[in-house]
Parts: sequence; C-alpha cells; structure tokens
Amino acid sequence: KIDIGCNLAGLQLSCCILNASGPRTNTEQQLMDIARSSSGALCSKSATLEERSGNPQPRYTEIQLGDRTASINSEGLPNKGFAAYSDSSFLQRLKECSEPHGKPYIFSISGLSLKENLEMLDRLAESPDVLQHLSAVEVNVACPNVPGKPLVGYDFPQFAEVVQTMSRHPLFTKDCVLGFKLPPYLDAPLFDAVAKMLNEIALGRGGALGYVVCCNTLGSALAVDIETETTVLHPKGGFGGLGGQLVRHLALGNVRHLRSRLDDSIHVVGCGGVATGEDAFAHILCGATAVQVATQHRVEGPQCFERIASELRELMQRKGYTQLEDFRGKLRVRE
Ligand code: DOR
Repeated sequence: KIDIGCNLAGLQLSCCILNASGPRTNTEQQLMDIARSSSGALCSKSATLEERSGNPQPRYTEIQLGDRTASINSEGLPNKGFAAYSDSSFLQRLKECSEPHGKPYIFSISGLSLKENLEMLDRLAESPDVLQHLSAVEVNVACPNVPGKPLVGYDFPQFAEVVQTMSRHPLFTKDCVLGFKLPPYLDAPLFDAVAKMLNEIALGRGGALGYVVCCNTLGSALAVDIETETTVLHPKGGFGGLGGQLVRHLALGNVRHLRSRLDDSIHVVGCGGVATGEDAFAHILCGATAVQVATQHRVEGPQCFERIASELRELMQRKGYTQLEDFRGKLRVRE
C-alpha cells in the first residue's frame, strides 16, 4: 500500500498533489470541480477585498514545448471579491462536494495593501461560521500583474513588515494555518535574506507561519508575435508572469534553496511546472511537503490531480517507497 498523504504544517492531506491558486479557481463551479477531484486540498483564487474584473484581454497565452506546456499570464487578479470565497454556505457546499473525507480549504488572499490584507484577516477572525471551514490563509506576495503594484516579495523592508504584522494576527492562533506564496528568487543572498527574515520575524515573539509556496510565476516575461510584430498579450505593455514547463527547474531550485535555510517547522510547498508524477517526485525530493499544480490544471482540467497522483504512486512502487518520508528532501549532490 502506497501512501501519498502528508501533514502540511498541521493540515492532514490524503493526497500531496493539490491545485495552486490561480487557474480554474475563480468561480463556484470551478472550485466545486476541484472539490470533487483527487486534489488533496482546495485553494481559492487570490482574493482582494472588492471584486475585480482583472486586466483587459488578451491576458493569457500558452507556449507548447513538445508534449509540455508553459504559460504567460497577465490576468491582474480577476476575482469575485473576499466575501464570495468566505461565504459560509458556499464553504458548506464545497465541503459536501469533497465528501467522504472532506479536504482542507486554503483561502488565498492578495490584498492591494497591507491594510486590505489585515481587513480580510479581521473579518475572518470575527466569523466563527466561516472559520470552521477554513484550514489556511495563503497570503500571495508575488503577483507580477497589477499595474502600479510592484511585488511585495521583492521589496524586503515592506515584505518584513507584512510578515511581522500578519504572522501575529489572532486568526492564526485559532486552528488556522498561515502560508505565504513567494515569488521566484534567483540569487543565493536573496534566499539567505528571505529565510532569515521568515525564521526570525515570523517564528519569533509569538508569530505563526506554517508554510511557504515556492513559487509564483516569474515576472517580466514577454511573448512576441512574429507575424503581427506585436506583443501577444495586451496589459502592462505585453509583459506577464511565466509559468508551467519553463519555470520547472527554477521552482525546484527555489524549493531546495529555501528548504535548506528555513526552520524545520516552516514547510515548503513546491509549485512550478508540475505536469507528471515524476515532476511531483522531484519537488518532494528537493524538500517539498506537498505540490501545487497550476498551468497543467488549466490545460488539462481537474482530472490532472488523479493522473499525477497515480503516476507518483507508480514511480514510488518501482523504487520500493511506501510513503513520502522515504525520499522527501533526500536529494543527493552528484559526486
Ligand atoms: O501569475 C500570476 N497571475 N500570479 C498571481 O499571483 C496572480 C495572477 C493574476 O491574476 O495576474
């Protein structure tokens, strides 16, 4: 019997493969479809306080690389607003769809300011009927696509203030886990600085931090149309966030770098280019507790979770592994 379940910072997941916030997570129907799928948890589209229609179209494109897919998006946080993803009767319906076992609900938020994020946390903390359905709040500090809003995750003084304030919010003493969705980093001193900041600020003096997701899309990617000699996307001068196959190895590097620097109590969730069981295995080998799927979920739909999970089980069987602990974080450097 092969067990691909995991304990993510206290959350029990029967399957370590789950959806990432973003693709197919906007509407009630899309979230219901994930609830019914094999995804180990349910992660909603990053919410802002008010509903947003996002950036003008075209704002998404795919790049085909053999049988694999990369993506560039400049969605601009289209979402139905905080209230839609924290409505207790909606969350009850989601829970009923995920029976018999239910699955953790991870509420992604991406307020346009610290104040807006805190307002959302305050509202959650005041709603016991919502809290009973809520397993985690994943704070997205890495959206590259909102005009005039540089990434918080690249602005260390601002990021430290966000971590300092949010990790001490009373919501996270109430059976609710805090996660941060990080941008990709590219240089060792940055990994040192982020890990030090998270270890010291989030864990010190009454803070709480359960996990980080490595990583969101890589910003400033540009798709070029040779025929029209224009950008493929319209918003923000055509620039967008690169995801899928073209960031797979960057994501693995980010998982490995942060796992080796973060306190053991802060879990790392791998996200980037996961399309097969082997991709998930590689993330876990680099130290990921669980693995999120974004571009492939958008391309294939929610049946991808069962396929990737069964490919992972087959690979583990072939290697004689029965649980993720048998190989998690055990990547060796070639002699
Ligand atoms: O690539 C991304 N696109 N990352 C985010 O965090 C948000 C999303 C969007 O809506 O633009």
